[in-house]
Amino acid sequence: MPVSNQTQQLRVDDFNHYLHPFSDMLSINNKGARIIVKGDGCYIWDSENNKIFDAMSGLWCVNLGYGQKSLIDAATEQLNTLAFYNSFFQTANTPAIELSKAIASVAPDGFNRVFFTNSGSEANDTMIRMVRRYWDIKGQSSKKIIISRWNAYHGSTMGGASLSGMKYMHEQGDLPIPGIVHIAQPYQLENGLPNETETDFALRAANWLEEKILELGAQNVAAFVGEPVQGAGGVIIPPSGYWLRIQEICKKYDILLVADEVICGFGRLGYWFASQHPHININPDLIIIAKGLTSGYIPMGGVIVHDKVSEVLVHQGGDFNHGFTYSGHPVAANVGVATIKYIKEQKLLQHLQQNIIPYFATKFAQLNNHPLVGDAQSIGLVAGLVLYQDKQQKKHFAKDLHVDNICREFCFNNGVVMRGVGNRMIIAPPLVMNQTQVDEIISKIVLSLDNLFDSLKVKGIV
Ligand SMILES: Cc1ncc(COP(=O)(O)O)c(C=O)c1O
Repeated sequence: MPVSNQTQQLRVDDFNHYLHPFSDMLSINNKGARIIVKGDGCYIWDSENNKIFDAMSGLWCVNLGYGQKSLIDAATEQLNTLAFYNSFFQTANTPAIELSKAIASVAPDGFNRVFFTNSGSEANDTMIRMVRRYWDIKGQSSKKIIISRWNAYHGSTMGGASLSGMKYMHEQGDLPIPGIVHIAQPYQLENGLPNETETDFALRAANWLEEKILELGAQNVAAFVGEPVQGAGGVIIPPSGYWLRIQEICKKYDILLVADEVICGFGRLGYWFASQHPHININPDLIIIAKGLTSGYIPMGGVIVHDKVSEVLVHQGGDFNHGFTYSGHPVAANVGVATIKYIKEQKLLQHLQQNIIPYFATKFAQLNNHPLVGDAQSIGLVAGLVLYQDKQQKKHFAKDLHVDNICREFCFNNGVVMRGVGNRMIIAPPLVMNQTQVDEIISKIVLSLDNLFDSLKVKGIV
C-alpha cells in the first residue's frame, strides 16, 4: 500500500541518520520502519493513522497505558520545580528520597534501600559491582563469579549482555566478560527428557546450578541471577518448584540470589514483585527493577537491596565508587512515585488478580485450539505460545522461514502488537486493559494466525 509523503520522508531520514537498537538497518530500509506517532490508553497510532492495540506495552513497560494524566502531571510539575539535581557530594532531591521510601513500602520484607540507575542494563551492571563489593567487605574476595542462564536477558551493556544468555549477542564484542558463566534454562520443551514430569524437570533444572557451583567452587561464586519468568527469551514460565530449589541451593552454598524483575516488577504478574507470586515464591537478596517502575514514561532503573546486603554496604563499606549522573533523577523519580501511587490508589493489583488475569489466562489458553499453536500459556499478564509446523509431532518451522516475523507482520496489520522470538510468539499487554480489550487482543491474534496459516498453506508449508 502506498504511504504518505510525510511517512516516506521520515523513513528516508530514519535510514540516513538513526541507528536502531538490535536491528539490521538495511533490511529495515527495504520495507521502511513503522513510525509510531501517538498513544492513548492501550492503543498506539502509526504515521499512516493505523490504530493498533499495544499488547507489548511498548517494550514490557507502559504498564499503565499511554496518556496517564497523573504520571504526566508528576513529570511536568517536577520539570517546573527542579528539572535536575544529582545525588553525589552529600546531596539528594525530594522525589528520589520519596521514591526509595515508596519502593520500600511495596517491596518484600527486609528490602529497605534502593540504588537508582537509568535502565535495567545499568541496574544489572550495578548489581555485578555491588555483589562483588559486598563479598570484598565481608572478607571473601574470591567470591566473584556470577552465574546466569542461557537464553536469559539482562540487558545490553557489557555487564548486562554478558549476564544475558543470548549467544548471538556474545558473538559481537567478545562477550561474556570474565567472571560470568551460564547454566541451561528451565524450559522443559527444549531441555526436558521424554516422559519427564514437571516436578522432576524442575528439580533437575535447578540442580544444574548446584553442579555449576561445585564445578567452580562455592568460595568463588558471588551470586546467581535469573528472571523469575524469562521475558525476552520467549516468556518461559519456569516449572513449579524450580525457584524453591534454586533458593535452597543459594542458601546452602552462601551465594546471593538476584531476581531480575525488570519485566515482572510493579504488577506484571498481579503482585508488586514476581518473587511474591505463589508460583515463584522466593526471598531474593537483590531485586533488579526498571520499565514498570515509571511505566516507561521516563527512563529509570534500580537495584533494591535487602538489609542483609545493604547493612554491610552502608555500615562497613565506606565509599561505593559507582553511580550515574542521573541516578535518582528527580523527574523520573517523581513519575515513579506517581506510578506506585496510581497502582495503590486504584487497587490495581487486586483488580488484576480478581478480574483480569484469570479471564486473560482462559482466553489465551484457548489459542491452543488453533492448528498452528501449542503450549499457549500465561502467568499474570505475560504470555507466550509456540508456532508448530506439525502440532501433533511438535515439529518446528525451519528457522530461515522466519515464521515469527511473518506472524508479527500479520498481527500489526490486523491491529495488535505481538512479538516473535524464534518459534515463540509473546505478549505483555498493559495492566489497565479491561475484559473487552482482552477479547479484542485474542480475536486479532486468531485472525492473524488464520492469515499466517493461509499464507503457509498457499506455499505448501503446512
Ligand atoms: C529482565 C530484563 N533485565 C534487564 C533488561 C534491560 O533493561 P534496559 O533495556 O532498560 O537496559 C531487560 C530489558 O528488556 C529485561 O527484560
